[in-house]
Amino acid sequence: MTQQKARHVPVLFEVVMEFIRVRPGGTYVDCTLGLAGHAEGIVRQLGSAGHLIGFDRDPEALELARTRLTRVCEELGSQAPQVTLIGEAFSTITEHVNPASVDGLLADFGASSLHFDEARRGFSFQADGPLDMRMDTRSGPTAEQVVNEMSERELANLIYEYGEERRSRTVARAIVRGRPVTTTGQLARIVASAVPAMKHDKKHGHIHPATRTFQALRIYVNRELDEIRQLLEAAPSLLKPSARLVVISFHSLEDRIAKDSLRDGAQKGIWEILTRKPVTAGEEETDVNPRSRSAKLRAAERK
Ligand SMILES: C[S@@+](CC[C@H](N)C(=O)[O-])C[C@H]1O[C@@H](n2cnc3c(N)ncnc32)[C@H](O)[C@@H]1O
Repeated sequence: MTQQKARHVPVLFEVVMEFIRVRPGGTYVDCTLGLAGHAEGIVRQLGSAGHLIGFDRDPEALELARTRLTRVCEELGSQAPQVTLIGEAFSTITEHVNPASVDGLLADFGASSLHFDEARRGFSFQADGPLDMRMDTRSGPTAEQVVNEMSERELANLIYEYGEERRSRTVARAIVRGRPVTTTGQLARIVASAVPAMKHDKKHGHIHPATRTFQALRIYVNRELDEIRQLLEAAPSLLKPSARLVVISFHSLEDRIAKDSLRDGAQKGIWEILTRKPVTAGEEETDVNPRSRSAKLRAAERK
């Protein structure tokens, strides 16, 4: 494991463990294994009759998660639970998980530190790499295809909708003029020269002008919001009565979907909401893990 990966810390770990409330012998689903930090916490509490089902559509993340969880299970010996890992999008969950069979379901949305730390994955504007941004590297268009093949108008709409970038038309015009765009560094420079830096944000420090454009492309390339909608739609049918759902969002588009879906479900008598307001990380955590600054956790119990 490289130093970068070793530094990965799961966000809101204690809060997740408290809300997911692992019952020994139960069945738990981690929809977003990543580097398996949360999954390890669950596996350690499940006991030999328990079952963890984990999803990650990124083959590289899935292998790292497998290595980590295998090591943990070896350590637990006869107390190790059953572990099933699935290398597919969590929107396929109903194909793999039986109705009313789950005691807890966790989803920690978005990209992982693996994606941001490895320049070759093309997620980061801070390190130069190919403009890829696919979590599932086996399929789908890359960000490079999107920026070079979309019309200026479509590109502007995408950056506006998924990046919440008010200056989306200016950005799209600059991208089209700069084509062909093939690297993250080139795209970051094009955006930075087209629009001035966002004003200094006290909480988050300096925001790079390309932040919103990169977010928009990533969401589009990975169909991130549709994935979340499909998962939240499927969740009630998968959970047993009094089972728990825990979701962590990293930007307002994700959190809005989670908030609306839980509120609608609560009105229909499906959910009891456990977090009236989303739980956020304390200073102690944000100091050591800057990514946790934007995390918002919501939890609900199936009625
Ligand atoms: C924020 S990370 C999760 C980190 C993890 N909780 C941990 O403790 O290491 C999100 C992970 O979910 C995966 N992912 C994101 N969207 C997905 C989807 N729709 N289906 C399956 N995996 C997804 C990403 O590839 C990434 O590895």
